[in-house]
Amino acid sequence: MKLVLAPLADFTNAAFRKLASELGADLTYTEMISAAALAHGSSRTRHLFETLPGEGPVACQLFGHVPDELAFAAREATALGRFVAIDLNAGCPMPRIRQGGDGAALVPQPQLVHDLLVAIKRETNLPVTLKTRPGPSPDRVTMFELLDAAETAGCAGITLHARFTSQMHGGTPHLELLAELVQRAHIPVTGNGGVHNEATLKAMLETGVDAVMLGRAAITNPAHFAGLKGHEMPSRKELFTRHVEYLLDLQGQLSRNFPEDHVMPPDEFVCATLHRHLFHYFKGVPGAAELRRKINEIHTLAETRALVTHFPLALQGE
Ligand SMILES: Cc1cc2nc3c(=O)[nH]c(=O)nc-3n(C[C@H](O)[C@H](O)[C@H](O)COP(=O)(O)O)c2cc1C
Repeated sequence: MKLVLAPLADFTNAAFRKLASELGADLTYTEMISAAALAHGSSRTRHLFETLPGEGPVACQLFGHVPDELAFAAREATALGRFVAIDLNAGCPMPRIRQGGDGAALVPQPQLVHDLLVAIKRETNLPVTLKTRPGPSPDRVTMFELLDAAETAGCAGITLHARFTSQMHGGTPHLELLAELVQRAHIPVTGNGGVHNEATLKAMLETGVDAVMLGRAAITNPAHFAGLKGHEMPSRKELFTRHVEYLLDLQGQLSRNFPEDHVMPPDEFVCATLHRHLFHYFKGVPGAAELRRKINEIHTLAETRALVTHFPLALQGE
């Protein structure tokens, strides 16, 4: 069984991906990276291309709607020699992205998706994949046309987040549609949406997918990769310690590689990232509410470490 870490903006940087791959993720994704920003020379956007030594296989996810910009971005990503695939985001429902014509704006436009994939393929020898949704809303299913677009463009795989754009990230995933897509597909299908325990994993595997992608469950506890594979799950305390170590590595690497960009100093960098992660890491564990309140008040690495040490109960794992 192949388990994949979803692309998650603001979460799946190199440090978190390294943690996930060590815990059993067979493939991870970068956060979605703007082709337009790359094409316009944004150096900060290139920070998202960073990988850490020791990471497992990483796919690079791009978003955009202009063939030339995606071609440029694909060329850049390929030249780095760090990625195992290039993925096109045709599913992000956030208004900022959709209104710009990107992400989920592509769900009702299979012909444009085809043209974008062809533009990417022309520039890379890496496998190209598509991540999308069943359709804009339940009364408009476009996934078969999107599958056709991906296959005729020569894609090596497709990921279906089995929720309509109208569902955003909530509601029941449509596993019956995922199963239909698997039936029709000639390329491997990765299933995504709502997998967070053995029962939901089993239900998704019954659709016949080739791989299962975890999004929010991985943020809540990246050790889900180990747990779902039947391996021992490390404690949250151990995860936290490793996560901090990898974030410090990433900060150092970014500072060296982008000296002009004034990368945040280590304390700020680690705290800013961990604020987001710690909120999720401790969901539902004893003391979580108080811990979360305190997370907002910490600004240094020493404070972060002290805070976590003072909540031993919350860190004993599941
Ligand atoms: C915070 C957050 C950030 C996300 N960022 C991306 C992204 O950059 N690219 C993408 O294709 N999907 C993104 N998604 C969608 C996830 O990859 C995934 O499709 C979705 O969370 C459903 O899976 P889940 O039910 O396992 O969470 C994001 C979702 C969340 C909650």
